[in-house]
Amino acid sequence: MEIVLTGSIAFDYLMKFPGYFRDHILPDNLECLSLSFLVESMVRQPGGIVPNIAYTLALMGERPRLFATAGEDFAEYRDALERSGVDTSGIRLIKGEFTASFFVNTDLANAQIASFYPGAMSAAGDLSLNELEGKRPELVLISPNDPRAMVRYVSECKQLGIPYIYDPSQQIPRLTDDEIKEGLEGALALFVNKYEFRMIQKRTGLSPWEIKALTQFSVVTLGEEGSVIYQGEKELRIPVVTPNQIIDPTGVGDAFRGGFLAGYARGWDLEICAQMGAVAAAFCLEHEGPQGHSFTPSELVARFREHFDDRRILDALIN
Ligand SMILES: Nc1ncnc2c1ncn2[C@@H]1O[C@H](COP(=O)(O)OP(=O)(O)OP(=O)(O)O)[C@@H](O)[C@H]1O
Ligand SMILES: [Mg+2]
Repeated sequence: MEIVLTGSIAFDYLMKFPGYFRDHILPDNLECLSLSFLVESMVRQPGGIVPNIAYTLALMGERPRLFATAGEDFAEYRDALERSGVDTSGIRLIKGEFTASFFVNTDLANAQIASFYPGAMSAAGDLSLNELEGKRPELVLISPNDPRAMVRYVSECKQLGIPYIYDPSQQIPRLTDDEIKEGLEGALALFVNKYEFRMIQKRTGLSPWEIKALTQFSVVTLGEEGSVIYQGEKELRIPVVTPNQIIDPTGVGDAFRGGFLAGYARGWDLEICAQMGAVAAAFCLEHEGPQGHSFTPSELVARFREHFDDRRILDALIN
């Protein structure tokens, strides 16, 4: 299946401060607050929603295409994604801009001070799905991105008659109530976590049943409680695959989506798709960073079969 993923591409700059931010804040001098923290470590991790999802999809044998914007510092990241099997030909480089960058400094109490610079992501709304070259997508994923881009892709998918999965997640606070409704109406599916599902209800005034009725199916992830799929009258609960250890939860939602979509691309039923998502999420939790995990198709299938019955459907991944 020709899947096109739209959403943010970013670098995450993660720093550690070997003290407590609170010890350096002078409450009586806030009008001239001026702080600089000498950090003991910094890593730059590849991140952003769609490269994360695409990375897991590629591990599962798919070749997803990214449709997004990145900055002049993207060259090395692009090479790494291509080596992983991701099609980056649809990524537009924005001259004079950095790739979106998330800077976060964490202290010993896990308090965080972060800044997100959207950089090249701000230009994503200038891209049009009408300009997409090559094969016509059979499915478009609309993930967190510049809000203008998300609104545009929803309306273009509708005009072009391309099925889309609406995955507004972190960007819900930046979309208007009407934009969220527009996104839901006519989507093939909605993909959110439990909190986001509640936020959508509050913002749109729609009941869970009304939201479910707008899409063919909805996937709501519930963290360590697994996930639930709503399809018509049906409600399917999918348990987690317990990780051997949790090293880093960053990107677990993206890994789940990658696993789910890999099954969906092959036309497998939604239960198997969500089980694939749960397996991918466990691999992700066991490694540092949103693209730190790696597995072969055989390892994936073996892990899957420790937890779920695939009725030999997954043989297709290893043959
Ligand atoms: N502690 C855990 N143990 C096992 N599996 C987990 C755990 N946390 C999450 N998962 C798996 O990952 C899926 C997505 O998790 P979650 O609902 O936390 O996503 P999210 O809130 O969107 O995460 P993110 O912080 O990446 O945005 C879950 O449905 C589950 O399968
Ligand atoms: Mg999420």
